[in-house]
Amino acid sequence: MTFRGTDTTALLTEWAMAELILHPTVQSKLRAEIDSVVGSAGTIGDADVAKMPYLQAVVKETLRAHPPGPLLSWARLSTDDIQLSNGMVVPAGTTAMVNMWAITHDSSIWTNPDKFDPTRFMVSEGGVNIDVRGGDLKLAQFGAGRRVCPGKNLGLVTVSLWIARLVQSFEWGPVDSDPVDLSEVLKLSLEMKKTLAAIATARNCV
Ligand code: HEM
Repeated sequence: MTFRGTDTTALLTEWAMAELILHPTVQSKLRAEIDSVVGSAGTIGDADVAKMPYLQAVVKETLRAHPPGPLLSWARLSTDDIQLSNGMVVPAGTTAMVNMWAITHDSSIWTNPDKFDPTRFMVSEGGVNIDVRGGDLKLAQFGAGRRVCPGKNLGLVTVSLWIARLVQSFEWGPVDSDPVDLSEVLKLSLEMKKTLAAIATARNCV
């Protein structure tokens, strides 16, 4: 439980910060939303996350682009022959994994899937409000059904709070000699191949 909840939340935060450094306009827009809800020095609490649709959109878009758990249903066997809607049969005794990464990068499902664009989840900007907790298989980054991640709500609020506090307190920029590299490596979770390096400038020093 502890293992599943620590690397996933830390990695999702790292991916989000990497994207915010690569997309300064997204970072500024997020900071403006945070300031409008709690001010530049106010304490951000759980309840404030619900008032920050752009923050939620940034987290969803990071989950879509860089799912920490890209393969669902690791190490599970089908107990019976299962006929799929396309006619294929998954025989009993098969290990069948769901490649969520492939689904969230499929251009027949997502417009410009390689573009980091949180507005795709902003209803006020023409986007869609997709449930990321297992209610929509286009974006089931916590799995779905009986084996859905039991820590999904805790994970979402933890990552949202971390990102919000980091962005509220600091301006984040790249290290020129060590630029952001979005290459991925799949270990137990989907990690950044090269650890993120960043320059954090406290806002009251800007
Ligand atoms: C952003 C954070 C998180 C992500 C992206 C994530 C993602 C996932 C995914 C994809 C699965 C597998 C679902 C499947 O195979 O169908 C899973 C399972 C699991 N997660 Fe999470 N998780 C996160 C946070 C957490 C937290 C905070 C906890 C605990 C406090 C946790 C505990 C678990 C456990 C125990 C399982 C195994 C459930 C089972 O096999 O029945 N996760 N998670």
